[in-house]
Amino acid sequence: MNDWLAVGYLIAATLFIVGLKGLGRPRSAVRGNQLSALGMLVAVVVTVVDDEIVSYGVIAAGLAIGTVVGSLLATRVRMTAMPELVALFNGFGGAASVFVAAASFLAAGDTGSTSDQVAVASVLAALIGSMTFTGSVLAFAKLRESLNGGGFAGLRLIHVLLGLAAIGCAVMMVVDPESTGWIWVLAAIGAALGVSLVLPIGGADMPVVIALLNSMSGLAASAAGFVLDNPLLIIGGALVGASGVILTQIMCVAMNRSLLSVVFGEAPTGGGGDQDEDVYAGKVRSTSAEDVAMMLDASSRVVVVPGYGLAVAQAQHAVRDLTRQLQDRGVEVVFGIHPVAGRMPGHMNVLLAEAEIDYEHLVEMTDVNPTFEQTDVTIVLGANDVVNPAARTDPSSPIAGMPILDVDKSRVVVVIKRSLSPGFAGIPNPLFAAENTLMLFGDGKAAIADISKAVAAT
Ligand code: TAP
Repeated sequence: MNDWLAVGYLIAATLFIVGLKGLGRPRSAVRGNQLSALGMLVAVVVTVVDDEIVSYGVIAAGLAIGTVVGSLLATRVRMTAMPELVALFNGFGGAASVFVAAASFLAAGDTGSTSDQVAVASVLAALIGSMTFTGSVLAFAKLRESLNGGGFAGLRLIHVLLGLAAIGCAVMMVVDPESTGWIWVLAAIGAALGVSLVLPIGGADMPVVIALLNSMSGLAASAAGFVLDNPLLIIGGALVGASGVILTQIMCVAMNRSLLSVVFGEAPTGGGGDQDEDVYAGKVRSTSAEDVAMMLDASSRVVVVPGYGLAVAQAQHAVRDLTRQLQDRGVEVVFGIHPVAGRMPGHMNVLLAEAEIDYEHLVEMTDVNPTFEQTDVTIVLGANDVVNPAARTDPSSPIAGMPILDVDKSRVVVVIKRSLSPGFAGIPNPLFAAENTLMLFGDGKAAIADISKAVAAT
Protein backbone atom coordinates (compact mmCIF):
# COMPACT_ATOMS: atom_id res chain seq x y z
CA MET A 1 0.00 0.00 0.00
CA ASN A 2 1.44 3.43 -0.88
CA ASP A 3 1.90 6.15 1.75
CA TRP A 4 -0.87 8.40 0.43
CA LEU A 5 -3.37 5.59 0.61
CA ALA A 6 -2.27 4.76 4.17
CA VAL A 7 -2.56 8.42 5.29
CA GLY A 8 -5.97 8.73 3.61
CA TYR A 9 -7.20 5.58 5.37
CA LEU A 10 -5.89 6.86 8.71
CA ILE A 11 -7.80 10.15 8.27
CA ALA A 12 -10.95 8.28 7.21
CA ALA A 13 -10.75 5.87 10.17
CA THR A 14 -10.27 8.81 12.58
CA LEU A 15 -13.30 10.59 11.10
CA PHE A 16 -15.38 7.40 11.50
CA ILE A 17 -14.45 7.13 15.18
CA VAL A 18 -14.97 10.84 15.99
CA GLY A 19 -18.25 10.78 14.01
CA LEU A 20 -19.47 7.71 15.87
CA LYS A 21 -18.74 9.40 19.19
CA GLY A 22 -20.79 12.41 18.05
CA LEU A 23 -23.77 10.14 17.35
CA GLY A 24 -23.97 9.38 21.09
CA ARG A 25 -25.81 12.65 21.86
CA PRO A 26 -28.73 14.28 20.04
CA ARG A 27 -27.00 17.68 20.06
CA SER A 28 -23.83 16.41 18.32
CA ALA A 29 -25.51 13.68 16.23
CA VAL A 30 -25.91 15.70 13.01
CA ARG A 31 -22.27 16.77 13.13
CA GLY A 32 -21.20 13.20 13.93
CA ASN A 33 -23.11 11.97 10.90
CA GLN A 34 -21.48 14.61 8.68
CA LEU A 35 -17.98 13.72 9.95
CA SER A 36 -18.55 10.02 9.28
CA ALA A 37 -19.86 10.81 5.79
CA LEU A 38 -16.77 12.93 5.18
CA GLY A 39 -14.65 9.97 6.33
CA MET A 40 -16.42 7.77 3.78
CA LEU A 41 -15.81 10.35 1.05
CA VAL A 42 -12.08 10.44 1.91
CA ALA A 43 -12.02 6.63 1.87
CA VAL A 44 -13.71 6.44 -1.54
CA VAL A 45 -11.53 9.17 -3.08
CA VAL A 46 -8.17 7.76 -1.92
CA THR A 47 -9.21 4.26 -2.97
CA VAL A 48 -10.35 5.43 -6.40
CA VAL A 49 -7.19 7.44 -7.14
CA ASP A 50 -5.06 4.45 -6.15
CA ASP A 51 -3.51 3.09 -9.34
CA GLU A 52 -4.57 -0.53 -8.78
CA ILE A 53 -8.11 0.32 -9.85
CA VAL A 54 -9.31 -1.82 -12.75
CA SER A 55 -12.18 0.15 -14.29
CA TYR A 56 -13.16 3.74 -13.51
CA GLY A 57 -16.27 3.38 -15.66
CA VAL A 58 -17.72 0.65 -13.44
CA ILE A 59 -16.91 2.63 -10.28
CA ALA A 60 -18.52 5.79 -11.66
CA ALA A 61 -21.65 3.85 -12.62
CA GLY A 62 -21.82 2.26 -9.16
CA LEU A 63 -21.39 5.65 -7.45
CA ALA A 64 -24.07 7.26 -9.63
CA ILE A 65 -26.64 4.49 -9.10
CA GLY A 66 -25.90 4.29 -5.35
CA THR A 67 -26.18 8.08 -4.94
CA VAL A 68 -29.52 8.28 -6.76
CA VAL A 69 -31.10 5.29 -4.99
CA GLY A 70 -29.73 6.33 -1.56
CA SER A 71 -30.89 9.95 -1.90
CA LEU A 72 -34.36 8.92 -3.05
CA LEU A 73 -34.78 6.44 -0.19
CA ALA A 74 -33.41 8.81 2.45
CA THR A 75 -35.60 11.75 1.44
CA ARG A 76 -38.81 9.76 0.94
CA VAL A 77 -38.78 7.42 3.93
CA ARG A 78 -41.13 8.23 6.81
CA MET A 79 -39.33 8.60 10.16
CA THR A 80 -41.29 5.67 11.57
CA ALA A 81 -40.23 3.44 8.64
CA MET A 82 -36.54 4.05 9.40
CA PRO A 83 -35.93 0.58 10.94
CA GLU A 84 -37.18 -1.03 7.71
CA LEU A 85 -34.76 1.03 5.66
CA VAL A 86 -31.90 0.23 8.03
CA ALA A 87 -32.79 -3.47 7.70
CA LEU A 88 -32.50 -3.24 3.90
CA PHE A 89 -29.19 -1.37 4.09
CA ASN A 90 -27.80 -4.06 6.42
CA GLY A 91 -28.89 -6.71 3.94
CA PHE A 92 -27.18 -4.99 1.01
CA GLY A 93 -24.01 -4.61 3.10
CA GLY A 94 -24.04 -8.35 3.83
CA ALA A 95 -24.61 -9.26 0.17
CA ALA A 96 -21.80 -6.90 -0.94
CA SER A 97 -19.38 -8.62 1.45
CA VAL A 98 -20.31 -12.04 -0.01
CA PHE A 99 -19.57 -10.87 -3.58
CA VAL A 100 -16.34 -9.06 -2.65
CA ALA A 101 -15.03 -12.11 -0.77
CA ALA A 102 -16.15 -14.51 -3.52
CA ALA A 103 -14.42 -12.47 -6.27
CA SER A 104 -11.10 -12.57 -4.40
CA PHE A 105 -11.49 -16.21 -3.37
CA LEU A 106 -12.26 -17.30 -6.96
CA ALA A 107 -9.36 -15.24 -8.39
CA ALA A 108 -6.89 -16.64 -5.82
CA GLY A 109 -8.21 -20.20 -6.36
CA ASP A 110 -7.71 -19.95 -10.15
CA THR A 111 -4.05 -19.04 -9.71
CA GLY A 112 -3.50 -21.47 -6.83
CA SER A 113 -2.42 -18.61 -4.55
CA THR A 114 -5.08 -18.74 -1.81
CA SER A 115 -3.50 -17.96 1.57
CA ASP A 116 -4.99 -19.28 4.83
CA GLN A 117 -6.02 -15.69 5.69
CA VAL A 118 -7.99 -15.34 2.45
CA ALA A 119 -9.61 -18.77 2.84
CA VAL A 120 -10.70 -18.28 6.48
CA ALA A 121 -11.86 -14.69 5.92
CA SER A 122 -13.80 -15.76 2.79
CA VAL A 123 -15.60 -18.42 4.85
CA LEU A 124 -16.64 -15.81 7.43
CA ALA A 125 -17.65 -13.17 4.86
CA ALA A 126 -19.71 -15.65 2.79
CA LEU A 127 -21.48 -17.19 5.78
CA ILE A 128 -22.16 -14.06 7.84
CA GLY A 129 -22.87 -11.89 4.78
CA SER A 130 -25.44 -14.26 3.27
CA MET A 131 -27.16 -14.81 6.66
CA THR A 132 -27.32 -11.03 7.05
CA PHE A 133 -28.80 -10.58 3.58
CA THR A 134 -31.71 -13.02 3.85
CA GLY A 135 -32.29 -12.28 7.55
CA SER A 136 -32.51 -8.55 6.79
CA VAL A 137 -34.87 -8.99 3.84
CA LEU A 138 -37.14 -11.08 6.08
CA ALA A 139 -36.90 -8.49 8.89
CA PHE A 140 -37.83 -5.79 6.36
CA ALA A 141 -40.90 -7.78 5.26
CA LYS A 142 -41.94 -8.45 8.86
CA LEU A 143 -41.62 -4.79 9.86
CA ARG A 144 -43.76 -3.78 6.88
CA GLU A 145 -46.21 -6.43 8.06
CA SER A 146 -46.13 -8.01 4.61
CA LEU A 147 -44.98 -11.28 6.22
CA ASN A 148 -46.19 -12.85 9.45
CA GLY A 149 -44.59 -16.30 9.24
CA GLY A 150 -43.77 -17.98 12.53
CA GLY A 151 -41.76 -20.98 13.67
CA PHE A 152 -42.70 -24.62 13.16
CA ALA A 153 -41.83 -27.97 14.72
CA GLY A 154 -38.43 -29.22 13.65
CA LEU A 155 -36.92 -25.76 13.16
CA ARG A 156 -34.23 -26.44 15.78
CA LEU A 157 -33.24 -29.61 13.90
CA ILE A 158 -33.00 -27.59 10.68
CA HIS A 159 -30.71 -25.08 12.45
CA VAL A 160 -28.43 -27.91 13.62
CA LEU A 161 -28.31 -29.56 10.17
CA LEU A 162 -27.58 -26.23 8.44
CA GLY A 163 -24.91 -25.47 11.04
CA LEU A 164 -23.20 -28.85 10.43
CA ALA A 165 -23.39 -28.36 6.64
CA ALA A 166 -21.83 -24.88 7.03
CA ILE A 167 -18.94 -26.34 9.07
CA GLY A 168 -18.39 -29.00 6.37
CA CYS A 169 -18.25 -26.37 3.59
CA ALA A 170 -15.95 -24.15 5.63
CA VAL A 171 -13.51 -27.03 6.11
CA MET A 172 -13.56 -27.79 2.34
CA MET A 173 -12.84 -24.12 1.51
CA VAL A 174 -9.82 -24.05 3.80
CA VAL A 175 -8.29 -27.46 2.99
CA ASP A 176 -9.05 -27.39 -0.76
CA PRO A 177 -9.30 -23.71 -1.76
CA GLU A 178 -8.85 -24.52 -5.44
CA SER A 179 -12.31 -26.14 -5.51
CA THR A 180 -13.77 -22.65 -5.50
CA GLY A 181 -17.44 -23.68 -5.92
CA TRP A 182 -17.72 -24.41 -2.18
CA ILE A 183 -18.03 -20.70 -1.47
CA TRP A 184 -21.39 -20.58 -3.31
CA VAL A 185 -22.61 -23.66 -1.42
CA LEU A 186 -21.62 -21.98 1.86
CA ALA A 187 -23.39 -18.75 0.82
CA ALA A 188 -26.55 -20.74 0.02
CA ILE A 189 -26.42 -22.46 3.44
CA GLY A 190 -25.90 -19.07 5.12
CA ALA A 191 -28.91 -17.69 3.23
CA ALA A 192 -31.06 -20.60 4.46
CA LEU A 193 -29.80 -20.07 8.03
CA GLY A 194 -30.70 -16.35 7.86
CA VAL A 195 -34.26 -17.24 6.82
CA SER A 196 -34.73 -20.00 9.38
CA LEU A 197 -33.39 -17.88 12.26
CA VAL A 198 -35.46 -14.73 11.58
CA LEU A 199 -38.67 -16.50 10.47
CA PRO A 200 -39.96 -17.41 13.96
CA ILE A 201 -39.17 -14.04 15.57
CA GLY A 202 -42.17 -11.81 16.29
CA GLY A 203 -42.49 -8.34 14.71
CA ALA A 204 -42.16 -6.59 18.08
CA ASP A 205 -38.72 -8.13 18.66
CA MET A 206 -37.58 -7.10 15.21
CA PRO A 207 -35.78 -3.89 16.31
CA VAL A 208 -33.42 -6.00 18.45
CA VAL A 209 -32.89 -8.37 15.53
CA ILE A 210 -32.12 -5.44 13.24
CA ALA A 211 -29.49 -4.13 15.64
CA LEU A 212 -27.97 -7.63 15.64
CA LEU A 213 -28.10 -7.89 11.83
CA ASN A 214 -26.48 -4.45 11.65
CA SER A 215 -23.65 -5.78 13.77
CA MET A 216 -23.37 -8.88 11.55
CA SER A 217 -23.17 -6.76 8.38
CA GLY A 218 -20.19 -4.99 10.01
CA LEU A 219 -18.51 -8.29 10.87
CA ALA A 220 -19.02 -9.53 7.29
CA ALA A 221 -17.46 -6.30 5.95
CA SER A 222 -14.55 -6.70 8.36
CA ALA A 223 -14.02 -10.27 7.14
CA ALA A 224 -14.12 -8.98 3.53
CA GLY A 225 -11.46 -6.46 4.63
CA PHE A 226 -9.20 -9.38 5.63
CA VAL A 227 -9.86 -11.04 2.24
CA LEU A 228 -8.79 -7.84 0.42
CA ASP A 229 -6.11 -7.00 2.99
CA ASN A 230 -7.73 -3.57 3.29
CA PRO A 231 -7.22 -2.02 6.77
CA LEU A 232 -9.97 0.59 6.40
CA LEU A 233 -12.61 -2.02 5.59
CA ILE A 234 -11.44 -4.04 8.60
CA ILE A 235 -11.70 -0.96 10.89
CA GLY A 236 -15.02 0.29 9.46
CA GLY A 237 -16.56 -3.18 9.68
CA ALA A 238 -15.32 -3.66 13.23
CA LEU A 239 -16.82 -0.30 14.28
CA VAL A 240 -20.22 -1.25 12.84
CA GLY A 241 -19.95 -4.72 14.38
CA ALA A 242 -19.07 -3.42 17.85
CA SER A 243 -21.64 -0.61 17.91
CA GLY A 244 -24.36 -3.01 16.72
CA VAL A 245 -23.53 -5.44 19.52
CA ILE A 246 -23.62 -2.61 22.10
CA LEU A 247 -27.02 -1.39 20.83
CA THR A 248 -28.37 -4.96 20.86
CA GLN A 249 -27.18 -5.38 24.45
CA ILE A 250 -28.69 -2.03 25.58
CA MET A 251 -32.04 -2.98 24.07
CA CYS A 252 -32.02 -6.48 25.58
CA VAL A 253 -31.22 -5.09 29.06
CA ALA A 254 -33.91 -2.39 28.78
CA MET A 255 -36.47 -5.04 27.72
CA ASN A 256 -35.21 -7.47 30.38
CA ARG A 257 -34.77 -10.14 27.70
CA SER A 258 -31.76 -12.27 26.92
CA LEU A 259 -30.49 -12.21 23.35
CA LEU A 260 -31.05 -15.97 23.11
CA SER A 261 -34.72 -15.63 24.07
CA VAL A 262 -35.16 -12.97 21.36
CA VAL A 263 -33.30 -14.91 18.66
CA PHE A 264 -35.04 -18.18 19.42
CA GLY A 265 -38.38 -16.43 19.29
CA GLU A 266 -39.61 -16.84 22.86
CA ALA A 267 -42.00 -13.90 23.22
CA PRO A 268 -42.59 -12.61 26.76
CA THR A 269 -45.69 -14.12 28.30
CA GLY A 270 -48.13 -12.84 30.85
CA GLY A 271 -47.91 -16.17 32.67
CA GLY A 272 -46.32 -14.96 35.91
CA GLY A 273 -47.44 -12.18 38.24
CA ASP A 274 -50.95 -11.07 39.17
CA GLN A 275 -54.06 -11.35 36.99
CA ASP A 276 -56.15 -8.32 35.89
CA GLU A 277 -58.97 -8.96 38.37
CA ASP A 278 -56.65 -9.05 41.44
CA VAL A 279 -54.93 -5.86 40.38
CA TYR A 280 -57.78 -3.62 39.21
CA ALA A 281 -61.02 -4.73 40.94
CA GLY A 282 -62.68 -1.66 42.51
CA LYS A 283 -59.43 0.32 42.65
CA VAL A 284 -59.28 2.17 39.33
CA ARG A 285 -60.38 5.83 39.42
CA SER A 286 -61.09 7.76 36.25
CA THR A 287 -60.94 11.49 35.70
CA SER A 288 -61.90 14.13 33.11
CA ALA A 289 -59.93 16.52 30.91
CA GLU A 290 -61.30 19.47 32.94
CA ASP A 291 -60.05 18.04 36.26
CA VAL A 292 -56.63 17.30 34.75
CA ALA A 293 -56.47 20.86 33.37
CA MET A 294 -57.12 22.28 36.85
CA MET A 295 -54.38 20.12 38.38
CA LEU A 296 -51.92 21.12 35.67
CA ASP A 297 -52.71 24.79 36.09
CA ALA A 298 -51.91 24.54 39.79
CA SER A 299 -48.64 22.63 39.23
CA SER A 300 -45.12 23.92 39.16
CA ARG A 301 -43.50 20.80 37.66
CA VAL A 302 -45.05 18.35 35.18
CA VAL A 303 -43.40 15.30 33.58
CA VAL A 304 -44.85 13.76 30.42
CA VAL A 305 -43.96 10.09 29.88
CA PRO A 306 -44.71 9.04 26.29
CA GLY A 307 -44.99 5.41 25.17
CA TYR A 308 -46.10 3.33 22.22
CA GLY A 309 -49.63 4.82 22.42
CA LEU A 310 -48.19 8.26 21.52
CA ALA A 311 -47.06 6.75 18.21
CA VAL A 312 -50.40 4.99 17.63
CA ALA A 313 -52.38 8.16 18.40
CA GLN A 314 -49.87 10.43 16.60
CA ALA A 315 -50.28 12.76 19.55
CA GLN A 316 -46.87 14.45 19.29
CA HIS A 317 -48.17 17.76 17.89
CA ALA A 318 -51.03 17.93 20.38
CA VAL A 319 -48.65 17.29 23.30
CA ARG A 320 -46.27 19.98 22.00
CA ASP A 321 -49.13 22.50 22.00
CA LEU A 322 -50.11 21.57 25.57
CA THR A 323 -46.47 21.77 26.68
CA ARG A 324 -46.07 25.29 25.27
CA GLN A 325 -49.37 26.36 26.80
CA LEU A 326 -48.23 25.20 30.25
CA GLN A 327 -44.75 26.66 29.86
CA ASP A 328 -46.33 30.03 29.00
CA ARG A 329 -48.10 29.82 32.37
CA GLY A 330 -44.78 29.24 34.15
CA VAL A 331 -45.09 25.46 34.59
CA GLU A 332 -41.86 23.49 34.16
CA VAL A 333 -42.57 20.63 31.70
CA VAL A 334 -40.11 17.87 30.79
CA PHE A 335 -40.42 14.54 28.97
CA GLY A 336 -39.21 11.34 30.67
CA ILE A 337 -37.78 9.01 28.02
CA HIS A 338 -37.39 5.26 28.56
CA PRO A 339 -34.81 3.60 26.27
CA VAL A 340 -37.33 1.05 24.90
CA ALA A 341 -40.54 3.09 25.00
CA GLY A 342 -42.38 2.49 21.73
CA ARG A 343 -41.25 -0.15 19.29
CA MET A 344 -37.89 0.98 17.94
CA PRO A 345 -34.73 2.55 19.36
CA GLY A 346 -35.23 6.29 19.76
CA HIS A 347 -38.93 5.99 18.80
CA MET A 348 -40.08 8.70 21.23
CA ASN A 349 -37.14 11.02 20.39
CA VAL A 350 -38.00 10.79 16.69
CA LEU A 351 -41.69 11.56 17.21
CA LEU A 352 -41.07 14.43 19.62
CA ALA A 353 -38.36 15.88 17.35
CA GLU A 354 -40.84 15.74 14.45
CA ALA A 355 -43.12 18.01 16.52
CA GLU A 356 -40.13 20.31 17.17
CA ILE A 357 -40.04 19.67 20.90
CA ASP A 358 -36.69 20.92 22.13
CA TYR A 359 -34.14 18.20 23.02
CA GLU A 360 -33.41 20.14 26.23
CA HIS A 361 -36.80 19.05 27.51
CA LEU A 362 -36.15 15.34 26.87
CA VAL A 363 -34.71 13.71 29.99
CA GLU A 364 -33.35 10.16 30.03
CA MET A 365 -34.60 7.57 32.53
CA THR A 366 -31.60 7.69 34.86
CA ASP A 367 -31.81 11.50 35.09
CA VAL A 368 -35.57 11.88 35.41
CA ASN A 369 -36.13 9.09 37.97
CA PRO A 370 -34.72 10.98 40.99
CA THR A 371 -36.99 13.96 40.13
CA PHE A 372 -40.40 12.25 40.31
CA GLU A 373 -40.73 12.88 44.06
CA GLN A 374 -40.62 16.64 43.33
CA THR A 375 -43.11 16.34 40.45
CA ASP A 376 -46.69 17.56 40.92
CA VAL A 377 -48.29 15.75 37.99
CA THR A 378 -46.90 13.05 35.71
CA ILE A 379 -48.87 12.46 32.51
CA VAL A 380 -48.36 8.92 31.21
CA LEU A 381 -49.32 9.16 27.55
CA GLY A 382 -49.83 5.75 25.94
CA ALA A 383 -47.04 4.14 28.00
CA ASN A 384 -47.60 0.98 29.97
CA ASP A 385 -44.76 -1.54 30.49
CA VAL A 386 -42.09 1.14 30.89
CA VAL A 387 -43.96 2.56 33.93
CA ASN A 388 -45.10 -0.75 35.47
CA PRO A 389 -43.98 -0.82 39.14
CA ALA A 390 -44.38 -4.63 39.16
CA ALA A 391 -40.91 -4.68 37.58
CA ARG A 392 -39.60 -3.36 40.91
CA THR A 393 -41.93 -5.06 43.36
CA ASP A 394 -43.05 -8.45 41.97
CA PRO A 395 -40.24 -10.99 41.46
CA SER A 396 -42.66 -13.36 39.70
CA SER A 397 -43.59 -10.77 37.06
CA PRO A 398 -42.32 -11.46 33.51
CA ILE A 399 -40.78 -7.99 33.57
CA ALA A 400 -39.21 -8.33 37.06
CA GLY A 401 -35.90 -6.48 37.10
CA MET A 402 -36.59 -4.39 33.99
CA PRO A 403 -35.55 -0.78 34.70
CA ILE A 404 -38.68 1.44 34.65
CA LEU A 405 -39.61 5.10 34.99
CA ASP A 406 -40.63 5.57 38.66
CA VAL A 407 -43.71 7.67 37.82
CA ASP A 408 -45.63 6.23 40.79
CA LYS A 409 -43.42 8.36 43.06
CA SER A 410 -44.91 11.62 41.75
CA ARG A 411 -47.70 13.35 43.70
CA VAL A 412 -50.37 12.65 41.06
CA VAL A 413 -50.17 10.36 38.02
CA VAL A 414 -52.59 10.84 35.11
CA VAL A 415 -52.60 7.85 32.74
CA ILE A 416 -54.02 8.47 29.27
CA LYS A 417 -54.96 5.33 27.33
CA ARG A 418 -58.07 3.84 25.77
CA SER A 419 -58.72 0.98 28.20
CA LEU A 420 -57.06 -1.20 30.82
CA SER A 421 -55.54 -3.35 28.05
CA PRO A 422 -51.98 -4.51 28.65
CA GLY A 423 -48.95 -3.33 26.68
CA PHE A 424 -46.34 -5.33 24.80
CA ALA A 425 -45.50 -7.59 27.78
CA GLY A 426 -49.16 -8.63 28.15
CA ILE A 427 -49.42 -8.09 31.92
CA PRO A 428 -51.59 -5.91 34.19
CA ASN A 429 -50.13 -2.71 35.60
CA PRO A 430 -50.64 -1.95 39.35
CA LEU A 431 -49.90 1.72 38.58
CA PHE A 432 -53.43 2.07 37.16
CA ALA A 433 -54.89 1.04 40.55
CA ALA A 434 -52.54 3.10 42.71
CA GLU A 435 -54.01 5.68 45.12
CA ASN A 436 -52.28 8.60 43.44
CA THR A 437 -53.25 7.53 39.89
CA LEU A 438 -56.18 8.87 37.83
CA MET A 439 -57.09 7.28 34.51
CA LEU A 440 -58.17 9.47 31.59
CA PHE A 441 -59.61 6.93 29.16
CA GLY A 442 -59.51 7.84 25.47
CA ASP A 443 -57.34 8.22 22.40
CA GLY A 444 -54.06 9.98 23.29
CA LYS A 445 -54.35 12.78 20.73
CA ALA A 446 -58.01 13.57 21.48
CA ALA A 447 -57.43 13.46 25.26
CA ILE A 448 -54.47 15.85 25.11
CA ALA A 449 -56.42 18.20 22.83
CA ASP A 450 -59.32 18.17 25.34
CA ILE A 451 -56.93 18.99 28.20
CA SER A 452 -55.46 21.86 26.14
CA LYS A 453 -58.92 23.26 25.54
CA ALA A 454 -59.76 22.99 29.22
CA VAL A 455 -56.45 24.65 30.24
CA ALA A 456 -57.21 27.53 27.87
CA ALA A 457 -60.59 27.94 29.55
CA THR A 458 -59.18 28.05 33.12
P1 TAP B 1 -46.65 -0.65 25.83
O1 TAP B 1 -46.30 -1.25 27.13
O2 TAP B 1 -46.63 -1.53 24.63
O3 TAP B 1 -48.09 0.02 26.01
C1 TAP B 1 -48.61 0.87 25.07
C2 TAP B 1 -49.98 1.30 25.53
O4 TAP B 1 -50.43 2.28 24.61
C3 TAP B 1 -51.00 0.18 25.53
O5 TAP B 1 -51.25 -0.28 26.83
C4 TAP B 1 -52.24 0.85 24.87
O6 TAP B 1 -53.35 0.78 25.77
C5 TAP B 1 -51.82 2.30 24.67
N1 TAP B 1 -52.34 2.85 23.43
C6 TAP B 1 -52.40 2.26 22.22
N2 TAP B 1 -52.99 3.08 21.34
C7 TAP B 1 -53.31 4.22 22.00
C8 TAP B 1 -53.94 5.43 21.64
N3 TAP B 1 -54.38 5.65 20.40
N4 TAP B 1 -54.10 6.37 22.59
C9 TAP B 1 -53.68 6.17 23.85
N5 TAP B 1 -53.07 5.03 24.25
C10 TAP B 1 -52.89 4.07 23.34
O7 TAP B 1 -45.72 0.61 25.47
P2 TAP B 1 -44.46 1.20 26.22
O8 TAP B 1 -44.79 1.54 27.63
O9 TAP B 1 -43.93 2.24 25.31
O10 TAP B 1 -43.44 0.00 26.31
C11 TAP B 1 -42.79 -0.51 25.16
C12 TAP B 1 -42.82 -2.01 25.19
O11 TAP B 1 -42.40 -2.48 23.89
C13 TAP B 1 -41.88 -2.57 26.21
O12 TAP B 1 -42.41 -3.76 26.77
C14 TAP B 1 -40.63 -2.87 25.37
O13 TAP B 1 -39.84 -3.89 25.93
C15 TAP B 1 -41.27 -3.33 24.07
N6 TAP B 1 -40.40 -3.18 22.88
C16 TAP B 1 -39.72 -2.03 22.68
C17 TAP B 1 -38.87 -1.92 21.59
C18 TAP B 1 -38.09 -0.64 21.41
S1 TAP B 1 -36.65 -0.72 20.74
N7 TAP B 1 -38.58 0.50 21.79
C19 TAP B 1 -38.77 -2.94 20.67
C20 TAP B 1 -39.54 -4.08 20.86
C21 TAP B 1 -40.36 -4.19 21.99
P3 TAP B 1 -54.85 0.86 25.21
O14 TAP B 1 -54.97 -0.20 24.17
O15 TAP B 1 -55.69 0.63 26.43
O16 TAP B 1 -55.05 2.24 24.65
